[in-house]
Amino acid sequence: MIVALTGTPGIGKTSVSKILEKNFYVIDLNKIATDKNFIIGIDKDRNSKIVDIEKLNDFINKSYNKMELVFVEGHISHLLKSVDKVIILRCNPNELRKRLSKKGWKKEKIKENIEAEILDIILCETVEILSNKNIFEIDTTKKSIMDIALIIKEIVQSDFCNVKSYNIGNIDWSEEILKKFK
Ligand SMILES: Nc1ncnc2c1ncn2[C@@H]1O[C@H](COP(=O)(O)OP(=O)(O)OP(=O)(O)O)[C@@H](O)[C@H]1O
Ligand SMILES: [Mg+2]
Repeated sequence: MIVALTGTPGIGKTSVSKILEKNFYVIDLNKIATDKNFIIGIDKDRNSKIVDIEKLNDFINKSYNKMELVFVEGHISHLLKSVDKVIILRCNPNELRKRLSKKGWKKEKIKENIEAEILDIILCETVEILSNKNIFEIDTTKKSIMDIALIIKEIVQSDFCNVKSYNIGNIDWSEEILKKFK
C-alpha cells in the first residue's frame, strides 16, 4: 500500500516523517525526483522545480507497489496516481505563517502558500483523483510533531477505517478570509 503524506509547502511533512521513519518505510519524493532526474524545468516565479509527475509515478509504482506499507512524503505526493491513501497535514494560517517564516521564506512565497492553505488547494486536487474515504486530514495547528506521528500510527493501526475525526470536511479556514472584511 502506498500512502501519500502531503500538505501545503512548509506545513511540517518532513518533520513528521523523521518520526515516522522509526517505524515505517518513508520515501522523500523531492529527493527521488532530483536523484532520478525527473525534473523537467524550473518555475522561475516560484523558484521551484517542475517534476514529470507521470515518470515519478511510474517509478514509485514499479519500486514500491508490492510493499505492505510505504509513505511517500512531499507536497506533490497526492498527485501520484498509484497512491492508495492520502494523509493531508493542515494548519491554521496564522500558525502556518510562523512555520513558513522559520523556513526563511520570502514574503511573497509565504503569502502564496497561506492562500493555498486557506483555499484547500491540496484537498481539492486530491478529491479529483481519489475517493473521499481514502483521504484523511489532520489539523496540526496545536499539535506537536510527535502527536501528529502518533495520529498517523493510529490511522494505520485502524487499517484506515474508524478514524472519523480525520475524515475530510472537518477543517475550514474560511473564517480567516472573512476576518479581513470585518
Ligand atoms: N507540529 C509543528 N509544530 C510547530 N512547528 C512545526 C510543526 N511541524 C513543523 N514545524 C516547523 O515548521 C517548519 C517547516 O517544517 P518542515 O520543513 O517539516 O515542513 P515541510 O512540509 O516538509 O516543508 P516543504 O514543503 O518545504 O518540504 C520547520 O521549522 C518545523 O520545525
Ligand atoms: Mg519537506
